[in-house]
Amino acid sequence: SKPRVWVSRPVFPDIVDRLRDVFDVHAETEERRYSSNEIATRLADADAAIVGLAERIDADALAGARRLRFVANLGVGYNNLDLDALTAAGVGASNTPDVLNETVADYAWALMLAAARRMGEAERWVRDGQWKGSRFEGWLGADVHGKTLGILGMGRIGQAIARRAAGFRSPVIYHNRSRLDPAIEHECGATYVDKATLLARADHLVLVLPFTPANRHVIGEAELKAMKPTATLTNIARGGIVDDAALARALADGTIAAAGLDVFEGEPQVHPALMALPNVVLSPHIASASRDTRRDMASLAVDNVLAAFGQGPHAGRPPTILNPGVLADAGGPSTHA
Ligand code: GLV
Ligand code: GLV
Repeated sequence: SKPRVWVSRPVFPDIVDRLRDVFDVHAETEERRYSSNEIATRLADADAAIVGLAERIDADALAGARRLRFVANLGVGYNNLDLDALTAAGVGASNTPDVLNETVADYAWALMLAAARRMGEAERWVRDGQWKGSRFEGWLGADVHGKTLGILGMGRIGQAIARRAAGFRSPVIYHNRSRLDPAIEHECGATYVDKATLLARADHLVLVLPFTPANRHVIGEAELKAMKPTATLTNIARGGIVDDAALARALADGTIAAAGLDVFEGEPQVHPALMALPNVVLSPHIASASRDTRRDMASLAVDNVLAAFGQGPHAGRPPTILNPGVLADAGGPSTHA
């Protein structure tokens, strides 16, 4: 019989259908949140899985998953996967890098602009029927063009954000664990600085770091205090990189001017203090959610799963596998079943 793939959420049926030649497909038809037990139960009789960022795949989830060989994550960030546990269990895993870079960069600018120009607040005011007349000194926000853009985390997404600054004539400074190649720095028009300089000089700071334990609360009270009171902070990366409680205090007391947040600690819950503030634009983790890019991400996940089972254009070599040693150790996928 065919191997079985579990698709944890509704994903474009025409793309998922590409799995059907090879797999018995068990695709969920509704969005839901799974308990750890529910994930374990579904993985227990799956040979492969396509999961979203809300599905945590850890040692517990894998404990009874004796047939499982591959998990494709629908996202570039994969802090929902315990990669060590997957590797120890001999399960390959993939993410969706690169296909979403430009779309996420667009969204970072959208949120940054919305925060700087107070678009969320203004939109609510119009909808609330409060627009009775105009005040010349009303709705004053911060310019973005010509202002210094700071980027913390300079992978491909950070670079795509930086490249967009040229049209705004905004100088770009960045900090990253490792400095970029000078040719790439030049192409992005970005100047490397230490973290303290980044915080002190950025007029608009964008976070593009992956979530790791070391990156937890990289932006907390002290870092917010080091920023300009006119600055904005935009997070399109991961919740938990920012101390949301500290950010709410900083936005309330004028330590910084505004924030644009697509990700939150403990999402889908949003810190109530953030909810109550006018000067923060909130969105529900949608930075990669353009029609084209979500389709590309789904397609890449499917390609990875097919490849792990020796099928498709990348047979035997899942194009964005995170732990390639697993397939090598198994002596190739076809010998493993
Ligand atoms: C979205 O957050 C992703 O990691 O792709
Ligand atoms: C994304 O997290 C990146 O580093 O580009």
